[in-house]
Amino acid sequence: MTERVRIADDGLATLYSVEFNQHYHSVRGVGDEAETVYLGLGFRKKASEMSQIAIFEMGFGTGFNVLMTALEAQRLGTMVYYTSIEAFPISQEDIALLNYDTEFDTTLFKKIHEAAWGEFIEIIPHFYLRKINSTLQDLVLDTAFDVIYYDAFAPSSQPELWTEDVFRKLYQMTNDGGVLTTYCSKTVVRRALEAVGYRVEKHSGPRGKRDVIRAVK
Ligand SMILES: C[S@@+](CC[C@H](N)C(=O)[O-])C[C@H]1O[C@@H](n2cnc3c(N)ncnc32)[C@H](O)[C@@H]1O
Repeated sequence: MTERVRIADDGLATLYSVEFNQHYHSVRGVGDEAETVYLGLGFRKKASEMSQIAIFEMGFGTGFNVLMTALEAQRLGTMVYYTSIEAFPISQEDIALLNYDTEFDTTLFKKIHEAAWGEFIEIIPHFYLRKINSTLQDLVLDTAFDVIYYDAFAPSSQPELWTEDVFRKLYQMTNDGGVLTTYCSKTVVRRALEAVGYRVEKHSGPRGKRDVIRAVK
């Protein structure tokens, strides 16, 4: 049986989902994936162009991408409005298995999890987090975003989250010049992103992954 928690090659913890038969992060490196795919291709690209950024994340999961983005926003002095959705929030027992506050010498991870759901909360100065408990399919938002972190479980496990219909909805939620980044570069995913209007770029991936994607509106 696969354990609920696993320490990835970089010493950071990740969780395993029995329902979806997937780990929440790459077991080759939790930090590398966030750094390359979400911070590198997404957040820092837009932070070099603007001082206030609206981010949408598909799959709040452990909250690790929120933590990494908040630490980077603090370093860069960027104002961030970060909306993250999650259909199946993890339990308090799961949160206690994750070693991020210790590894990054912070208390921010705890704050991210203590923040109320459904409203923007300023968890550190200039970083506003709104966690939404919803499926992506049911989500209705009338705002648009500069950066979308697309961090769903893989198409082999949840093919319904990698379709043209889903990406059309996200395209409508992307500001002009905005980007969607994801770790999955499968042909079917690239084609679906292109079909709804994104210009798709392939970039070198973190350890254990050849290519990752930045899709530009
Ligand atoms: C790869 S994990 C996300 C990892 C996360 N970004 C992190 O930093 O830990 C994918 C997440 O999507 C959630 N999920 C699965 N189906 C969903 C759906 N239909 N709508 C919203 N979230 C969903 C899962 O529960 C899981 O937490």
